[in-house]
Amino acid sequence: MVGVITLALLPTITVVEAEVLPEAAKENQPQDFYCEQYNRTECSQKDPTLTNCTTKTIKKCEALEHPEKSHQCFVLWTNTSGKIEVDLKGCWLDDKTCTDTDDCISRQSVSSLTEQKPHLFCCCNNQQCNKNFYWHPAPEVPTTTAAPSEASDVVVETVAWTLGTLVVVVIVITILFYLYRRHRMANFMELPRVESTALVPPSPPMGLRPIQLQEIKARGRFGAVWKANLHGDVVAVKIFPVQDKQSWSVEKEVYSLPQMSHDNILHFIGAEKRGENLQAEFWLITTYHERGSLNDYLKANLVTWNELCTIGESMARGLMYLHEEQPATKCEDLKPAIAHRDFKSKNVLLKNDLTACIADFGLALIFRPGQSPGDTHGQVGTRRYMAPEVLEGAINFQRDAFLRIDMYACGLVLWEMLSRCSSQDGPVAEYHLPFEDEVGQHPTLDDMQECVVTQKARPAIQPSWRTNVAMVGLIDTMEECWDHDAEARLSASCVVERLSSLSSNPQFSPTSHPQKESSI
Ligand code: ADE
Repeated sequence: MVGVITLALLPTITVVEAEVLPEAAKENQPQDFYCEQYNRTECSQKDPTLTNCTTKTIKKCEALEHPEKSHQCFVLWTNTSGKIEVDLKGCWLDDKTCTDTDDCISRQSVSSLTEQKPHLFCCCNNQQCNKNFYWHPAPEVPTTTAAPSEASDVVVETVAWTLGTLVVVVIVITILFYLYRRHRMANFMELPRVESTALVPPSPPMGLRPIQLQEIKARGRFGAVWKANLHGDVVAVKIFPVQDKQSWSVEKEVYSLPQMSHDNILHFIGAEKRGENLQAEFWLITTYHERGSLNDYLKANLVTWNELCTIGESMARGLMYLHEEQPATKCEDLKPAIAHRDFKSKNVLLKNDLTACIADFGLALIFRPGQSPGDTHGQVGTRRYMAPEVLEGAINFQRDAFLRIDMYACGLVLWEMLSRCSSQDGPVAEYHLPFEDEVGQHPTLDDMQECVVTQKARPAIQPSWRTNVAMVGLIDTMEECWDHDAEARLSASCVVERLSSLSSNPQFSPTSHPQKESSI
């Protein structure tokens, strides 16, 4: 059976064929799409008999938010024993149901209509194509899947659910976006508070911590380090953008290893993921150190011999602890050996008492006993601090080879401190990075290979540095760290021993306070 029903057949609805289109539609602007709009419930509230209720409203459909969707109009009506009544007409957004349907035609089978569920639905994709609507029932096909009445249910439920879900999703997204913006603004506008990080325990996150970001302190290879406030304490928050998630994961993993609490390793407070998808950020929360990095400090200050020894020895202790495996204790599991792989003065932080702690484990390698350290490609780190075997691409992938690469970089950091030591004879030069005089500020890998591998050059040691036995002892230590032969290099524990005996050497009289650059 093929039935055609037009609005002319509907007794209770007046059809106005020559509707006046708004100007934009007249000018045929494709972005504006119009459908006839009707809501029987609203109509019956205004006019209980429905005798004067018309379908005159023409609705401009909302702009499309998703390119895969297209504009459509729909009609939902009932056919109860031949009595046809429109329930709803309006704009319809769908990506599959009604594509390429110029007229609003329902193909529901006759048997899909029951007394309880007499609804028919059609949709179409022309301007105001729901003015007229048709019923061309599909021939009855016996089916083993859903019963016809269920199919009719599904259509009605789909209309209700799609519209309802769309509204709820839009509202939820708007609210979440608003809350997120408000939270970020609040973070930026908070005033600094007094420093006291000792009381912040490394607790597991119960949701997100109430952190207010205050100011950027440093920018690194992976995101920025913020001074921030957490429960009234000053903390540091390193924020990794989504593309650096891997470094955040590695750093978090390193800090979370057993027995990682050590005076000379930056104290970890927690890690959090903030935001979703491309907006996601990965936060790493640690103790904040007002003095910043050793590199910052040496740029602005000279160091006395005593200070050099304090910084050097504590830095070597941190490296020694990182490198060494610690056996399991009653309370904690074994701590595996760890190679830093980006050791440099920017990754050594200074505490108030000028002892050092090591930070930035985003490139670290963990050597769990009996396991391979995982995906390693050797040439990582900061070019300027790369050992000759790294620059040559000739490292062997044994644990000790990676630890010796850190020791080469440690030698360069000792040189940076010596170059700024006020105990040398005569004036002290401005701070220069290692090899800055040889390769400048932005060396290529080729520049570094030529300098360190081919010419076997090392940063210059000034004669004025050899003013006493202790300083000569430190120069020897430094040179044994950066030996071309990786196997000849000192271990971190040897450097600790050397520096500790040098600092207590009575032949040398220490000076006490750091001098500001400007006061020299
Ligand atoms: N720069 C990098 N990490 C830092 C920290 N934890 N405190 C201060 N400055 C930093």
